[in-house]
Amino acid sequence: MFQKLLFFTLFAGLAQFANAAPIEAFPNGEIWPDQNGVHINAHGGGILVKDSTYYWFGEHKIEGDAGNYAQVGVHCYSSTDLYNWKDEGIALSVVTDSPTHPITKGCILERPKVIFNPKTQKYVMWFHLELKGRGYSSAYSGVAVSNTVTGPYTFHHAGRANPGVWPINLPDSEKSLLEGKAPHLTGSFFHKDMSANDFLKRDFKQGQMQRDMTLFVDDDGKAYHIFSSEENGTTHIAQLTDDFLNHNGVYARVFVGRFMEAPAIAKRNGKYYFVASGCTGWAPNAGRSAVADNIFGPWKELKNPFMGKDAHISFGAQSTFFLKVQGKEDTYLLLSDMWRPKNAIDGRYLWLPVKFEGDQIVLKNVKNPKY
Ligand code: GAL
Repeated sequence: MFQKLLFFTLFAGLAQFANAAPIEAFPNGEIWPDQNGVHINAHGGGILVKDSTYYWFGEHKIEGDAGNYAQVGVHCYSSTDLYNWKDEGIALSVVTDSPTHPITKGCILERPKVIFNPKTQKYVMWFHLELKGRGYSSAYSGVAVSNTVTGPYTFHHAGRANPGVWPINLPDSEKSLLEGKAPHLTGSFFHKDMSANDFLKRDFKQGQMQRDMTLFVDDDGKAYHIFSSEENGTTHIAQLTDDFLNHNGVYARVFVGRFMEAPAIAKRNGKYYFVASGCTGWAPNAGRSAVADNIFGPWKELKNPFMGKDAHISFGAQSTFFLKVQGKEDTYLLLSDMWRPKNAIDGRYLWLPVKFEGDQIVLKNVKNPKY
């Protein structure tokens, strides 16, 4: 009995040691254990850097198909080296006692991102929200706030973007409503001709659609919400109010009719760099990239940044965040998800060092890369 116990203790001790072993490269496509040896559960995520610590926020998924709906909330992890992550628990929980609450359990809550507001000293989380039982038709963003980085975050509001405001780069001749002409704009418009700006006009009063998204804080402290709008056909770049809780009505339409999802953005040497995917749901497709001198554009679209074998499916992944590594000169990572929609919790990660060839972003499929 004693021997058995000793063996068990030794084995358990060794297993724990193995789990806690430091990870010195990104385990792309593999299980990525946190400090407890549990696969990191933070999909469609983003990273906030605060006080020399990285905080990774992402969708907490559960097993099976059901994991594609929000059953738990937004999970947070912390790290000082980007390789070893500590589970900080659920930062934003779905609501379980009110079926009509916008973030009630079973809604779709995707791509959460958190930024810190120095004026209010609050942490502000934005996410793509689809109300429960309505598929992807709501096209809302949700906002939640916390006084501490790991939460708990409190739901603030949810809805459409910039109702009653035209984008700053729309010609005056296009600023007209579709009075009486909107009924033809119902149903699915996926990949239809966008030349008429009809979806922008259709949604002018009620507010623009907002689905896949990221946040970006510029050097001057201004924050931007970048999201797929107009039936995913066009990307909007919308400035936030000083408290980061709302749009302030200043926004531009970019990549009109290019059907991009999964936007990610970073600044380097005064220029803005953008990575996104095409629109094929959970299935991977070729990546997109672009560069601009001004965040509102004009943006110059470049090549698929994923280069080499399997570039046409972005190495099986979809972008989620463009990270500037702290304390290193000119070092960036592109964080992507390898979705497993049939067993959502099993989704994997693909974190790649970003190379720049001129303005072209280049991502190579490196096994176990380091930054
Ligand atoms: C992807 C999108 C994901 C999720 C998925 C649902 O294109 O990037 O965040 O919405 O579609 O099919």
